[in-house]
Formats: sequence, C-alpha cells, structure tokens
Amino acid sequence: MQNYKDLEKNIEKDFSSVSSLETLQEFRLSYLGKKGKISLLMKELSSLDADQRKENAEQLNILKGKILELIDTKDNELQELILNEKLETEKIDLTLNVESKQGTIHPITQVIDEVIEIFGDLDFFVAEGPEVETDYNNFTALNTSENHPARQMHDTFYVKTETDGMPNVLRTHTSPVQIRSMLEQQPPIRLIAPGKTFRCDNDQTHTPMFHQVEGLVIDEESNMSHLKGCLEIFLKSFFETSELKMRFRPSHFPFTEPSAEVDIAYTRKGNQLIIGDGKEWLEVLGCGMVHPNVLRNVDINPDQFQGYAFGMGIERLAMLKYGISDLRTFFDNDLRWNKHYGFQPLNTPSILRDLS
Ligand code: PHE
Repeated sequence: MQNYKDLEKNIEKDFSSVSSLETLQEFRLSYLGKKGKISLLMKELSSLDADQRKENAEQLNILKGKILELIDTKDNELQELILNEKLETEKIDLTLNVESKQGTIHPITQVIDEVIEIFGDLDFFVAEGPEVETDYNNFTALNTSENHPARQMHDTFYVKTETDGMPNVLRTHTSPVQIRSMLEQQPPIRLIAPGKTFRCDNDQTHTPMFHQVEGLVIDEESNMSHLKGCLEIFLKSFFETSELKMRFRPSHFPFTEPSAEVDIAYTRKGNQLIIGDGKEWLEVLGCGMVHPNVLRNVDINPDQFQGYAFGMGIERLAMLKYGISDLRTFFDNDLRWNKHYGFQPLNTPSILRDLS
C-alpha cells in the first residue's frame, strides 16, 4: 500500500512553491491530470482486492479533496492579487486636463467667486433674483417714486411684458433682490446677491450689461459702524492687503438713509495701480442704512428692525485687482484676452489658501 503520509508531505511541499496561475496549473496536472500521481494511483486500485481497494480509495479521495481545496483557495488568492495589481497600475484619469489651459475662468466669474468666498466666511448667504424685473421691485419698492430723478439716472431698458400695468425692466441694479428676499424671509437677514445688471449706456467706462453684488443685513441692531467694519474686512480681504485707506463720502440713494459712497486710496506707479495707500481715491461702492420706507414696503416694522445695504460693481473690482484697463474688453470674447486674464479652472478661491 502506498505511503499516504509521504504523499501528503510531497503534496504540501509542491504546493508551497506555487506562486502563479501557471505554477498552480502545473501543480494540478501533476496530481490530478490524466497522468497525475493521484489519477495513476486511482487506476491501480482495480488490481487490488476489495478490502484494500476500499481502504486505498478512501485515502486517495481524502487527498484529492485536500488538493482541490488547496487549488481553490490559491486560485482565489492569485486572482485577487492580479486584480489589485491591475487596479493599481491601470488608471484612467477622467478629470479635466487643467494643464492644457483650453478654457479659463473669466475674471468676472473669478471675482464673483472671491466675493462669495469672503462674505460666506462672514455668515452671508447668496440670494438671486431675475434679470427681468417688475418696475415695482426695481424702483417703487425701493422708495424710488414714479417721478423720482433716479429713474432717469438709471437709463432703464424697458421690455414688452408688463406687471400691474407697468412695463417690466431689465433690472438696473441688484437692489430689487433686497425686496424679493425681505418678502420671502423674516429678519435676521444677511445676504449678498451677485448678478447681471443693465443700463442703456455704452462708452469707455460703461457697458449696457455689467455686474453688481448687493449686500443686505437686517436685524435689530446693525448700524453704520457695522457697515463700515463689514466693508473694511471685505475690501482688505478682497485686495489681499492689511493696509487699506478708505473714505466714506456722503451720498444719496432713495433706498438708504444716510447714504455713502466708498472710495479707496491708491497710487499710480507707471502703468500699475497700487491699491491701499496714496493720494488718489477711487470709488468702489455705494451703501447706507436701509430706508424705513423700504422696510415698510415689505412689511417689516422699522421701529423694531434696521440694517444696512451696499452695492458694488464687479467689473470695477476686477479692473482694480487684476489691472484691466478697458471695461469693454471684458465682453469682447477675444480668446487671447480670455487666456491672458482668465483663471485656472478648479482653482477655486479660498480664504484659507489663496484668494486669487
Ligand atoms: N443700487 C445702487 C447702485 O446701483 C448701489 C447701492 C446698493 C447703494 C445698496 C446703496 C445700497 O448704484
């Protein structure tokens, strides 16, 4: 009778050198193939007498079962290894190829993202409104009555649709978003509203479409000093400078009282503008305390609530920060300009890293 203990030892020894699917196959054939050791021993069984045949067959079947089990586990192990290796080495990068510079982020989009990032950090949320507005939201609710001179100042585009018998307008500023938001939401309110605005004007410093960002804070105690502090933090963050001289000049808007325009100091060095210090001043925004009439128009009690609002031109901010001298070039869609002044996609502005 075959020494099954020795055979088992040989099986274990041969199996220990299996390290690939090929050697595993060789191992299988050497025992279970037609001429394999186990198969040959099986064939020999027929020459034995009944008792011995039974005993040997049992032993052989045990060994065969063991071999099959070894092969099965090893096979799984090897398949997994191969798969992992494939996963490691075969990579398809489905992300945008940022290196190719095929497309860039327009400076307007970049500046809006930067503004949102800064105000987001100051707990403002972003609101939006439509570009076609009712006359009421764009003017009347903002304390700008029908014969108010500010209506002429805005050089309004009128459209063919109407609301309540008045032609709708392409919004002349983002301030109507104040009205919409206050109608939708009770104070405290803390929002900014970036977006497109339109005025019938076209020269070196005006385009018929431009962008503004509106700011609105309504609660029980916000006052002019909060407005100043908020704008100072914003402007310093935006221009990425800790020194920034600013000046509040008294002004007039129908929807704020008192009202102010804000200038920042700068110096001209050759073709460059150095923002923050110097003898020259640049106007960057309009602001003020929300007029009680505006609050009344949206059913907010001005004896309980108060707050401030501001509005600034995105193009103006972009020109100052990124040294773009002609407003009209923003909308020429000249690819060379876009490439030169554009920003890398996926490089989203962050207060924690770099804003720009
Ligand atoms: N809407 C004003 C403009 O377009 C700016 C502004 C907004 C002023 C909010 C005061 C408060 O010029």
